[in-house]
Amino acid sequence: MAEANITVIIKRNYEEVSAEAFRYMKEIVENKKDAILGLATGSTPIGLYKKMIEDHKNNGTSYKDIKTVNLDEYVGLGAESDQSYVYFMHDNLFDHIDINESNVNLPNGKAEDMDKECERYTALLNDMRQDVQLLGIGANGHIGFNEPGTPFDSTTNIVKLKEKTRMDNARFFDGGIDEVPTHAITMGIKNVMNAKSILLIANGENKADAIKAMLEGEVSEECPASILQTHPNVVVIIDDAAASKLTK
Ligand code: F6R
Repeated sequence: MAEANITVIIKRNYEEVSAEAFRYMKEIVENKKDAILGLATGSTPIGLYKKMIEDHKNNGTSYKDIKTVNLDEYVGLGAESDQSYVYFMHDNLFDHIDINESNVNLPNGKAEDMDKECERYTALLNDMRQDVQLLGIGANGHIGFNEPGTPFDSTTNIVKLKEKTRMDNARFFDGGIDEVPTHAITMGIKNVMNAKSILLIANGENKADAIKAMLEGEVSEECPASILQTHPNVVVIIDDAAASKLTK
């Protein structure tokens, strides 16, 4: 059963989920011109990012002083690869709004020393507490690339990706699963939970089990997203299909 600190908004479809998530984001950006936005990649936020771009073009909503921190990146991929998350973020959002490149932060998947990179990113996150952290959710309940079994007190870390996650993400790679990197660098669960508010969006039937476990299951490291039940300010926006296994 979802706790009172979690607001669950159920919409009919992906378009409506994106529109509702956009309303939430726009309010933050309008009320705090130098807000820190924690951002996510994957297919789910694309509709939201399209609406942010449209709104910037049509209404002049400015991101001049907005700062961003992204959840994660594949180890071994950088801006030159169109499968990297840094490429994704520029392609789907940053290149189309007036954000200052120096205000954009992602973990560096090509750092020479990945342990040092984890330390650097955690220190940066400690200095840049997210006003909102946007999250998608994996079919196995992962948030960021924090797979089932990740300790709740984890900070930025290197993850060996589960086969299921690599298979889910293979659709983005021309050469299929063989091209999907085996490791990623991700914000830890503790870094996610440090955000002042959390906005989780999901759509589609393949997320229904994860949504049920997150909202109605035990708080357990077996479902990383279930930790959100203990965060003071969470908004979950999902479509009917993703909500289809909820009992209430
Ligand atoms: C993305 C991320 C992942 C995705 C999740 C859902 O930065 O950290 O946790 O949010 O895998 O992905 P999609 O939206 O593609 O279903």
